[in-house]
Amino acid sequence: MADAEGIIESKEKDFGIGVPVETEGFYLKGMSHMDWGIKDRLRRMFNPKSGRTVMLAFDHGYIMGPTSGLERLDLNIVPLIPYADSLMCTKAALRNVVPPTSNKPICLRSSAGTTILNELNDEVVIDPEEAIRVNASTMAVMVSVGGQYEAKTIANLVKTADAGYRYGIPTMGVTAVGKELARDARYLSMASRVCAENGATIVKTYYCNEHFERVVNSCPVPIVVAGGKKLAEYDALTLCYKAISGGAAGLDMGRNVFQSESPKAMIQAINGVVHDNLNPDEAFELYNDVKSDLELK
Ligand code: 5RP
Repeated sequence: MADAEGIIESKEKDFGIGVPVETEGFYLKGMSHMDWGIKDRLRRMFNPKSGRTVMLAFDHGYIMGPTSGLERLDLNIVPLIPYADSLMCTKAALRNVVPPTSNKPICLRSSAGTTILNELNDEVVIDPEEAIRVNASTMAVMVSVGGQYEAKTIANLVKTADAGYRYGIPTMGVTAVGKELARDARYLSMASRVCAENGATIVKTYYCNEHFERVVNSCPVPIVVAGGKKLAEYDALTLCYKAISGGAAGLDMGRNVFQSESPKAMIQAINGVVHDNLNPDEAFELYNDVKSDLELK
């Protein structure tokens, strides 16, 4: 029992009579009613000032092998880590390469893949204990809405999201795209909504040129946009700008960073778009300035 001596009698004013208790919401869409652990992990991933994230993706090897620009994660990726808000990778990349001193929130690739196109691994997801062991801030699961493996990949999402809510870890539903799946607003809004309604705390999907706002607005949770295949730097920054202007809460960029002529300059320019609302011209200027500075060193 606590020592009762020394407890000072409260005066009435100490109770804050008349001062309403603050009941603040949370700065990310649809997250106000989430548990403390989920919010804390989301806060680590999404900058509270801008409400957005620059996620550096280098999980490609789990289905593509040593992708161009990812031959040596220690040389290609580790120098970029300081410029990212969060890292999207496999548990192997974490254990093999990412320094535990990086202090970056991890979006852990939690579903398994195969190298055979359109053969998403059915009902294989990592044990949530593994996510806890590596201190993941989010578990990412691929979902193939409308694809051959829809039911099984949705089962993966539901299983992972349930475990995530049990342990306070958000789950990211990753909408798969394949040759047979369209990348238009109609498809992407359906796929994103299906992920959210099946438990995803965040959805990762693609940008589409027409009606992207509909994809964002019909999804009750934050949307993060994947970069996709390598584009010219200006075009990639334009895509980033349009996705953010359209309401995306962040970007998950891989090839357009690590395959860029100047990955360090590119990730800084993307940061400018995401957190400082730079337009494509301003961001491209920043890219060129940083690139030139780096070349002089
Ligand atoms: C690879 C992925 C990537 O995380 C995602 O697609 C982002 O990378 P990129 O910008 O290269 O598309 O899911 O399997």
